[in-house]
Amino acid sequence: MSEKVFIFDTTLRDGEQSPGASMNAEEKLRVARQLERLKVDVIEAGFPISSPGNFEAVRMVAREVRECSVAGLARARNEDIDRAWEALREGVDPRIHLFIATSPIHMQHKLGMTPDQVVEAAVAGVRRAARYTANVEWSAEDAGRSEMDFLCRIVEAVIDAGATTVNIPDTVGYTLPHEFGERIQQLMSRVPNVHRAIISVHCHNDLGLATANSLSAIRHGARQVECTINGLGERAGNAALEEVVMALRTRRDIMPYHTDVVTEEITAASRLISRTTGFPIQPNKAIVGANAFAHESGIHQAGMLKDASTYEIMTPASVGLATNRLVLGKHSGRHAFTERLREMGYQLPDSQIERIMQRFKDLADKKKTLFDDDIRALVDDEVVRDADPYKLIRLHVASGTEDTPVAAAEIQIHGQTQRGAGWGEGAIHAVFNAIVHLVPGADQVRLQRYEVRAITGGIDAQADVIVNMERDERSVQGRGVNNDVVVASALAFLNALAKLARKPTETRQGV
Ligand code: KIV
Ligand code: ZN
Repeated sequence: MSEKVFIFDTTLRDGEQSPGASMNAEEKLRVARQLERLKVDVIEAGFPISSPGNFEAVRMVAREVRECSVAGLARARNEDIDRAWEALREGVDPRIHLFIATSPIHMQHKLGMTPDQVVEAAVAGVRRAARYTANVEWSAEDAGRSEMDFLCRIVEAVIDAGATTVNIPDTVGYTLPHEFGERIQQLMSRVPNVHRAIISVHCHNDLGLATANSLSAIRHGARQVECTINGLGERAGNAALEEVVMALRTRRDIMPYHTDVVTEEITAASRLISRTTGFPIQPNKAIVGANAFAHESGIHQAGMLKDASTYEIMTPASVGLATNRLVLGKHSGRHAFTERLREMGYQLPDSQIERIMQRFKDLADKKKTLFDDDIRALVDDEVVRDADPYKLIRLHVASGTEDTPVAAAEIQIHGQTQRGAGWGEGAIHAVFNAIVHLVPGADQVRLQRYEVRAITGGIDAQADVIVNMERDERSVQGRGVNNDVVVASALAFLNALAKLARKPTETRQGV
């Protein structure tokens, strides 16, 4: 029987700290539900004291999620710990996750504290958290650059104070796999009470070694890995959940450990995160990139036809790729459609299902083959713009090689119909200008990024457009999905403007 490695997902906390990846409470909840389907052990939902939005999001996730423990981050300060508990208390087996830096660089330059003061604060923090719950995790920030003697001393002290999980982060992604494994081994052999806690690791990817370091740590005694979907996270990101989990599954022969992750949910989780944050997945990304299971060269294809194991070390089905199957058609009934949504993990109100089904049928008229990804994109698009005050009613665009591109748009703003026109250097520029004339404050918005992606293969694929817009130093992201890339662009622009019009409720606030 192999030993279990616990999976602590921090997509909603560390992942969200990636610049531009902020999520609001509803988006966090949607991601949390997918993480629950994935069966991670712990979902770190946020850093409750950092902002009211963050607090609300952690509270919502803790209330809703029933199958995983939900964690909230706190510095080793009374007010952080109390606030974290307030957000978490309604959860199932909630976890308070405390941290304080332990490297000489951080203690001296960031905290201005002596090592003795750091031990004292860490112990006091853990004791306070342990009064609320027995599920207390403590992290030694920048452990990768901490002195080993000091690390052993503080780890022993926090375990004595009540920490049940001790996390060893390589905060700046500095260590090499053999070196990081050796650190874990030293802790396992030198800390007398180490067996009273689970040793966890949290590796950043600055040198591209986060997954390798996490696996090395497991070999030397770590039994929890902190990771994120698609490797999202501060700077170069965190260890990618899908890489750690699939490495353990694929190399059981030399890594006798298992996780409880339902690997068939990996692709859905990866795409949801990409759509929610607007962070594209590089095509050659391990496990979840568009090319991860594509075989281009003739020799490879010939081998694959004879036996898939010639070039495939894991099956597409094992990460949920084969479930991207052809789905319903335009003649499918409401019951079948609702059932398919349920199978895909969506629980939506009837009014939304009705609208999505109508869009699905319109799409089926235009697109030859429909896949689960088409449905996912429609659902996400509908959910994303559900509460938006701006609705695109009609759009007409003329562009080409000869004439100046022009666009005429009709939109509803809080139920009032408005019409406007604009011209530009290209069709999308003209559409944006038409909309700028209609939406108050849109003329002060700056476009930071525009990106278009095809949702599936094929010439008739739906376009998924992402725009990042900035106004008054506030940056938001808008998305739009449509068969027509120009319409998808208009939808994305309106979605971003709607976000800018709302009060800033996003949850992002780094540690
Ligand atoms: O990278 C890090 O050290 C962290 C801690 C707060 C766990 O994210
Ligand atoms: Zn981190």
